[in-house]
Amino acid sequence: MASISNLYALRRTKFLKTLGEGGMAILPTNAESTRSADTFHPFRAASDFFYLTGFSEPDAVAVFIGGKSASKQSFILFCRDKNPEKERWEGYRAGQEGAVATYGASDAFSIEDIDERMPELLLGQNRLFLPMKSADEQHHQIMDWLSDAGKQIRSGASAPTACFAIENVLHEMRLRKDREEIKTMRTAAQISAAAHCLAMKKCQPGMYEYELEAELLYEFKRKGAEAPAYSSIVGGGANACVLHYITNKSILKDGDLVLIDAGAEWGTYAADITRTFPVNGRFSPTQSAIYELVLKAQEAAIAKIRPGVAWNVPHDIAVKVLTQGLVALRLLKGEVKALIKKKAYRRFYMHRTGHWLGLDVHDVGDYRVDGKWRKFEPGMVLTVEPGLYIAAGEQGVAKKWWDIGVRIEDDILVTSQGCEVLSRGVPKKIAEIERLMNSA
Ligand code: GLY
Ligand code: MN
Ligand code: MN
Repeated sequence: MASISNLYALRRTKFLKTLGEGGMAILPTNAESTRSADTFHPFRAASDFFYLTGFSEPDAVAVFIGGKSASKQSFILFCRDKNPEKERWEGYRAGQEGAVATYGASDAFSIEDIDERMPELLLGQNRLFLPMKSADEQHHQIMDWLSDAGKQIRSGASAPTACFAIENVLHEMRLRKDREEIKTMRTAAQISAAAHCLAMKKCQPGMYEYELEAELLYEFKRKGAEAPAYSSIVGGGANACVLHYITNKSILKDGDLVLIDAGAEWGTYAADITRTFPVNGRFSPTQSAIYELVLKAQEAAIAKIRPGVAWNVPHDIAVKVLTQGLVALRLLKGEVKALIKKKAYRRFYMHRTGHWLGLDVHDVGDYRVDGKWRKFEPGMVLTVEPGLYIAAGEQGVAKKWWDIGVRIEDDILVTSQGCEVLSRGVPKKIAEIERLMNSA
């Protein structure tokens, strides 16, 4: 197998520099997880681990040893041994030779020997960087290695005395996407947009929600996506008002809206798109009124995104537009400023306007820095996803509005000049949606 992209090597160089002399990081990947009896969920590497290694086999632990110069730095991979018999059943394993030749490890050892080798690697280091969110089991194992290292201290040698969260270093890096990541995310968004278009075209009253889910999956897989980046939401009528509805088993009724929140994972990166459209291909006047309001809020929020603007700005403008519109439609009563202050909109809009997007759908990266909202920088990717959800029986709300749930979500890359809507391949204007749905 040819050596994988040197992008991982570039990321490691940056990371190792931050660790510095005496700094060592231990980063395990995910474990395989049982689905039932002897069947497993498809394996997905841990995002932080994958970001630095590009290695996608289970049962692996990466060790990074920092240093001023490249000659003092190292990347050691503990991984599964080659095993021709197992490989016959389960497929290729890189083994330690592959870890060095293909994945650029300075050295590699069997995962079977990790307890024996790790204490030795810890000796002579003074700062340890660990994933703070990893499983208890992994923490126990790391503590055992540290304690074994402590027992082995000989004259002059020392073991780490301070622990740091690896996330603080790594997540700052992951927040700013490099050129390769942007290319990958553009493809993930394009595939997902095409899948939404297909669902719009196929939708007919009387279909089940899962039939539309199947169209999405078909398009994801047809384009080579690994999987949906998260459980697809296909909610018709009242189900569109259940924010995390994933049952997808109801009949789509003539006269209802359907909300689809679905994105593909392609090249290990997520897309996250929501569209809402009428099951019969034509928006009713009440559906149009709510839809146009959400679209106006979303477009106003996107228009604000450019470098230097604070994270909360798109959310605040979305809330303002939604509140003004809800007052105009008489769904809220009172003065806009006061209604915003008391968060009256939360009755119909109960989530935030977006999140970072990347290897994880709710990607890593702090939203506040030193107590202040973070400012956008080129290379950051986020979603913008305002919505309005009017459940049946809402007190004081006329029946004509009931069961209207609308969310519109796009994936946005911050560029040097402003932003790029990665998911623009799926329409969101009413006329465009209706045209697509009614095209032969
Ligand atoms: N699909 C999850 C979200 O929109 O955040
Ligand atoms: Mn989202
Ligand atoms: Mn979503």
